[in-house]
Amino acid sequence: MDHMDGLTVEGCERCPDLVASRSRIVDGVGPADADLVFVGEAPGANEDAEGEPFVGRSGDVLDDALRDAGLARDDVRITNCVRCRPPDNRDPTSEELENCRGYLEAEIDLLDPELIVTLGKVPGEHLLGRDVAVTSEAGDIVEAEIGGESRRVMLCAHPAATLYDPSQRDPFAETIRAAAEYAADEGGQSRLGEF
Ligand code: URA
Repeated sequence: MDHMDGLTVEGCERCPDLVASRSRIVDGVGPADADLVFVGEAPGANEDAEGEPFVGRSGDVLDDALRDAGLARDDVRITNCVRCRPPDNRDPTSEELENCRGYLEAEIDLLDPELIVTLGKVPGEHLLGRDVAVTSEAGDIVEAEIGGESRRVMLCAHPAATLYDPSQRDPFAETIRAAAEYAADEGGQSRLGEF
């Protein structure tokens, strides 16, 4: 039987195509109390080989933008809507997204982050439940109900978009900077009540 042990999914075989194409389940990485959670689409070949989200060229772009924003990869949580690599890097189907949604909701519930940043159209539309125009909505913060809780979500382009179109690099970095500032402000404010 599949199950989630804390933040780790074990033995899941809900999606036959993905079970056939994956080498492993790729869980999220980063602290379980991170203020900022980045949600991508699904693991690619590098992520499937290494067992960690965003470790290929898209991951390099994300790491650079985090560094520009004064953050290290270890300061944030990085995860995906779907935890297994789709065949030929196709988009996950709506059924696959739904099959994996409970794991993502449980992860977000446990983290209780200040801000969720969706990387690309697929996670934006999956978490908001509506069409998203990533380029024009990048940087917008919206409320979304995720796992029965109202959560704040910032829409952002996928880091791979900057590889296809270098003019997207600065706007991408700016969105990540805005997300880092927002999470730091909100995290700082909520902690004041502890003293
Ligand atoms: N793209 C994604 O959406 N997720 C990854 O983990 C890597 C690339």
